[in-house]
Amino acid sequence: MLARVLGAGAGGGFPQWNSNAAGCRRARAGDSRALPRTQASVAISADGDQWFLLNASPDLRQQIEAAPCLHPRHGLRSSPIAAVVLTGGDVDAIAGLLTLRERHEFTIYGTSRIHQVLDANPIFEVLARDVVQRRSVAVGTPIDLARPDGSLSGLSVELFPVPGKVPLYLEQASVAPSIIEGEETVGAAISDGNRRLFFIPGCAGMTGALAQRIQGADVVLFDGTLWTDDEMLRADLGGKTGLRMGHMSLSGPNGTLAAFETIDVRRKILLHINNSNPILLDDSPEREAVEAAGWEVAYDGMEIQL
Ligand code: MLT
Ligand code: MN
Repeated sequence: MLARVLGAGAGGGFPQWNSNAAGCRRARAGDSRALPRTQASVAISADGDQWFLLNASPDLRQQIEAAPCLHPRHGLRSSPIAAVVLTGGDVDAIAGLLTLRERHEFTIYGTSRIHQVLDANPIFEVLARDVVQRRSVAVGTPIDLARPDGSLSGLSVELFPVPGKVPLYLEQASVAPSIIEGEETVGAAISDGNRRLFFIPGCAGMTGALAQRIQGADVVLFDGTLWTDDEMLRADLGGKTGLRMGHMSLSGPNGTLAAFETIDVRRKILLHINNSNPILLDDSPEREAVEAAGWEVAYDGMEIQL
């Protein structure tokens, strides 16, 4: 199995369009130790020929152009993109679907809840239903990923609930949404029958069930949104904690680094990294700390071979 990180940033990317914070200024100035990151998405393939996207970020057009494996290869109109697997309904996970209009045949896999969100937004009807299939996937049930002609790709996906919240635009005004484990926010386990890769870009807390599920995995790409829960408040960048946004943070006793100390995973890779997170800066002590704890920090164009 091959995986390519198309984007390693959280919603907004790095630099974020309206952020003038120090890290974003460094990224904007071309500082080689503050590499820009587009919004989180990963492409996976069993054979290097047909590719399956994990989420479709608003930066998808740019991400496709930056990835030769995703360029058209046959005839005047074609694409090696066979499907998109969705793990949530946030803007940074679904807006890139709109980039895939133009009557190319592919399949959208997601939970029935995420399909409800798409169905309720008529703009997604631009992906004409006679060309683009929408397939609901029950959580906890692995299914084979198919090529557009129906043949099997050699990959399967299982979607599973992780603690999370409703998408930002579905929150009720001035009510903090509850953190739930359901069909709203899921992780994706991709298997080629031999190796297992987990894609979990949003997760509000480590549960026993999740720890058990990822135990022994070959690769886990995990929510790296914030370093500390209140870093956006402290930097005056916003009024929300990480948990309020549905993300556990890296540091601290309940943080991601601590949670993974007892989980055995071959490669642990952080993605969906917010522009306020100092691990984006190659020369920060926080970057040193995550690397010392055995983590890799994803970057756009990162290739992973399993
Ligand atoms: C998140 O991961 O918290 C969301 O992407 C936020 C957003 O939609 O901007
Ligand atoms: Mn997000």
